[in-house]
Amino acid sequence: MKPRPHEPPSTTPRKAADATSDTTLDIRGLRVAFGDAAVVEGLDLTVRRGEILALVGESGSGKSVTARAAMGLLPPGARITGGSIALDGEDLVGLPPRRMDRIRGGRVAMLFQQPRAMLDPTATVRDQVAEPLWLHRGLSHREARRRVTGLLRDVGIPEPERRARSYAYQLSGGMAQRVMIAAALAGEPGLLIADEPTTALDVTVQAQILRLLKRRQRESGMSVLLITHDLGIVATTADRVAVMYAGRIVEDGPVAEIFDAPRHPYTQALLRASLLRTEADRLYTIPGSATRARELRRGCRFRPRCPVAEGMGVAHSCENEEPTLSSCGSGHRSRCWVRPSGAVGA
Ligand SMILES: Nc1ncnc2c1ncn2[C@@H]1O[C@H](COP(=O)(O)OP(=O)(O)OP(=O)(O)O)[C@@H](O)[C@H]1O
Ligand code: SF4
Ligand SMILES: [Mg+2]
Repeated sequence: MKPRPHEPPSTTPRKAADATSDTTLDIRGLRVAFGDAAVVEGLDLTVRRGEILALVGESGSGKSVTARAAMGLLPPGARITGGSIALDGEDLVGLPPRRMDRIRGGRVAMLFQQPRAMLDPTATVRDQVAEPLWLHRGLSHREARRRVTGLLRDVGIPEPERRARSYAYQLSGGMAQRVMIAAALAGEPGLLIADEPTTALDVTVQAQILRLLKRRQRESGMSVLLITHDLGIVATTADRVAVMYAGRIVEDGPVAEIFDAPRHPYTQALLRASLLRTEADRLYTIPGSATRARELRRGCRFRPRCPVAEGMGVAHSCENEEPTLSSCGSGHRSRCWVRPSGAVGA
């Protein structure tokens, strides 16, 4: 994949305004647009040090665009038009491409949904896993290549010496994702961004890969932004969850609290429609289709599909003004005019 640098370029790394040491990634007010159309707008997202934050939401809500913005890998035509993306306090927006290249694969690494497609078909597994070691950790090529066998063993690859000589086409999907994890972790990143890393794999392999990710995350203490549409994965893997709708975060907080007491009607609907549903909810799907960030300029973005606005007497506010993301519990925030007390927020 050809990296696409953030724009506009700047030569001086900037400090984000209020980054704190317990925060690895702090995204504030992010706006990403294709041409004039914003697909991510006013996005605030924080990944704390050493945690797994799951980012969930329906297809098209902007999860991958957000992840790619943080990696400086936006697709052609997309541009960051506002906000900041602070990695360990350093704002990545506008960094020169060469500096971003040094950060990518070193301080932050990414896993994608199609691991085989991300591997270089012309290079051996050994060469690909060795690259971050010499590129980001200063090892000689010889020493880097020597360490690959151990890294492959760490991610549960049998016969690592033989596998190191393989090419991508010789690997199963699960094996390719293990190789990608080995390569991603080789650079000892402080942050791993994993965009649907198990969606293309069968269920048994999915579970193995997630267990592996979680074990390696605990061992290394790195932070993980895990993008998934699978709330079962969130429940078993993540510490906190952020729910995205139409380019914005609508709710975030600790997994247990959000699963036990979701505040935002969209989160409630997502949970009801998920695999965690009860017998009674088996046929439930969220009514209407997902609102695109570019479609609504006024009021709450979930309004066209919201089942509670009328009944709670908040419809006027919902139509006219977008609610802010406000506290509704310890570390728990929701973007809805219906506050925990049932009152309309100011
Ligand atoms: N290359 C592109 N050109 C134009 N629009 C795009 C492009 N890539 C994404 N978009 C738009 O950006 C929005 C967000 O897309 P994104 O891929 O981030 O969604 P997502 O939440 O990752 O969805 P999914 O769960 O299907 O992966 C969508 O409305 C999509 O149509
Ligand atoms: S602000 Fe209104 S429309 Fe939006 S989710 Fe809350 S009740 Fe529904
Ligand atoms: Mg996506």
